[in-house]
Amino acid sequence: MVVVAIVAPTSNIGSHLVQAIQNTQHGLVTISRSPQPELSAKGIPTHVATYLPDGHAALVAFLKAQKVDTIISCIWSLTGHVQSQLAVLAAAKEAGVRRFAPSEWAVPVYQTIGLYAMKLDVWQVCLSSGLEVTRFHCGIWTNVLGYGATKEPEEALSGYHGPTLGIQIDKGTATLVKDGNDEVVFSRLQDIAPLVVKSLDLPEWEHDTFIVGDRTTFKRLLDIAQQVTGRSFEVKYLSEHDINQGLQSNDILEKLISQFYKALANGELSFGQGQSLNKSFPDVGMMTVEQFVKRHF
Ligand SMILES: NC(=O)c1ccc[n+]([C@@H]2O[C@H](COP(=O)([O-])OP(=O)(O)OC[C@H]3O[C@@H](n4cnc5c(N)ncnc54)[C@H](OP(=O)(O)O)[C@@H]3O)[C@@H](O)[C@H]2O)c1
Repeated sequence: MVVVAIVAPTSNIGSHLVQAIQNTQHGLVTISRSPQPELSAKGIPTHVATYLPDGHAALVAFLKAQKVDTIISCIWSLTGHVQSQLAVLAAAKEAGVRRFAPSEWAVPVYQTIGLYAMKLDVWQVCLSSGLEVTRFHCGIWTNVLGYGATKEPEEALSGYHGPTLGIQIDKGTATLVKDGNDEVVFSRLQDIAPLVVKSLDLPEWEHDTFIVGDRTTFKRLLDIAQQVTGRSFEVKYLSEHDINQGLQSNDILEKLISQFYKALANGELSFGQGQSLNKSFPDVGMMTVEQFVKRHF
């Protein structure tokens, strides 16, 4: 049994981790920029952090008082991603915390996906921190496909509120990169969290921890979606030229999505062919994309 601190407990991924850890023998505390009365009501202590130098001593004192062993970060911020996590890492080091996982939860692509370069900045400091560190890579959350789900819509999105990618099942539209046959890893938020709980008991953390819920292609996904919904989708095929145009966009979301398409075309969204956390713990069920579409549409 260890005490785990989840940073950003109400984020998409953080809320699933909180829920999963709550149901175990492990202790749970959280760190957030604001008080979390719902968690407090359940007896889960929250430290309200500024992530600024003036909050360092209080954060160290909290980690020590709660005997925190492992910190798992779920921060996502265009402005505070690096600085906030480095503030937590510095406090963790001083408080004698053993393990730290920075906020990754996606794909290990740090150049093609420009925004993810800041994850690498955090990782470099993790590596020299002296703590045991890992990056959880889980691919695209299957829940991004859940918009407009006709069955159990709340479970389909499961709190996800970000952009979708490649296919909009409810709208009957798909965007395929080249012929759509590049592989991509998907994992469902509900399946990632129990695996992360399992990793708490591992004697050692590898630097990279892969979670592969399903490895598929957007072409296969399109076939499944058309078969399940009985609709013929409107399909747009993206050439390299189209992707390069999107990369020049001033719209941050369009640019980010184009970066994902570029990474897909480069074969960078398929990873974890060797060992993965789900292979180590086959008792944790992973929902495939086909199962997801059949369940929710
Ligand atoms: N694989 C995928 O498909 C996918 C999709 C989306 C995101 N992700 C990844 O998952 C991770 C978490 O993203 P998410 O979507 O779960 O997050 P989210 O729901 O957008 O929440 C981000 C959290 O970060 C904290 N935060 C925001 N600004 C901050 C700042 N300036 N300083 C410190 N903390 C700040 C907030 O927590 P408090 O308010 O509690 O402080 C907030 O709840 C990210 O690394 C992101 O890249 C992956």
